[in-house]
Amino acid sequence: MALKTQHKRPDIIIENGIQYTSKVMLDLNDLKKVYPTPNGDYVVLENLNLQIMKEEFVTIIGHSGCGKTTMLSMIAGLNPISGGSISVLSNPIKGPGPDRGVIFQSPSLMPWLTTLENVMLGVRQVFPHAKKKEREDICKYYLSKVGLDGSFHKKASELSQGMQQRVGIARAFAIKPKVLLLDEPFGMLDSLTRGELQDVLIEIWNKEKITAVMITHDVDEAIFLADRVVMMTSGPSAKIGDILDIDFQRPRSRKSIIEHDDYYKYRKHLIDFLEH
Ligand SMILES: Nc1ncnc2c1ncn2[C@@H]1O[C@H](COP(=O)(O)OP(=O)(O)OP(=O)(O)O)[C@@H](O)[C@H]1O
Ligand SMILES: [Mg+2]
Repeated sequence: MALKTQHKRPDIIIENGIQYTSKVMLDLNDLKKVYPTPNGDYVVLENLNLQIMKEEFVTIIGHSGCGKTTMLSMIAGLNPISGGSISVLSNPIKGPGPDRGVIFQSPSLMPWLTTLENVMLGVRQVFPHAKKKEREDICKYYLSKVGLDGSFHKKASELSQGMQQRVGIARAFAIKPKVLLLDEPFGMLDSLTRGELQDVLIEIWNKEKITAVMITHDVDEAIFLADRVVMMTSGPSAKIGDILDIDFQRPRSRKSIIEHDDYYKYRKHLIDFLEH
């Protein structure tokens, strides 16, 4: 039997005297969530097990109301767990933290602050000892990446929905998280902006070597972005129903993926799951 011991650094594992670094970034173990309701407890998630590897891009699909946002908000530390555990690099999470950046469907910016000030809010908290100029440079870098270099000093209330969503993305990247959690971030955008922001997301994810977990309702988006697509069963007591590996090489182009034979197999697999 393999002898497994935990090193002082929890992401280092020693097995039979050989030391290696665990590749698991996120570990959801027998996760459970119960919401109290006037008609009694409602078990949204139960026995949900999922491991997500370092630098992996995972997309999550499942029917509306199955518990995707509930799961993501628990990983973010914004929603208490009813049972089981969630660990980041083997450390059980105790609440929100700068190791996890979150991008919601609507970015909820401070409307009276400028684009730059909105991104600075988080950066100031995470890098309190950096000089103001250094912090500003980080914010400006990510704002430029999402195509907002001409809008640093515009008030958030003056931005279009697509521009606000870009600020939300820049804000999450600027705190340099290990894990990026995205809840239908492009759901409300037109298809052109959506494609553009998917490309920005993949570029920064690839460059910063972060781990991404993204909920989407769009099967094509799920395939285009992911290393693995995770399918959740319908609630109550939702869990992981199936996982599909997407073996397309990176960098990917939409055209080459659509022309690939496997694309239709993947698509069929996901649609069959959703229709049953
Ligand atoms: N605070 C809450 N109190 C009680 N029930 C809740 C609460 N939040 C969510 N729910 C219920 O839990 C279930 C899962 O909700 P959740 O928002 O996680 O689903 P979802 O998969 O993200 O759905 P969608 O795809 O529509 O965004 C739903 O039945 C919802 O009504
Ligand atoms: Mg949701």
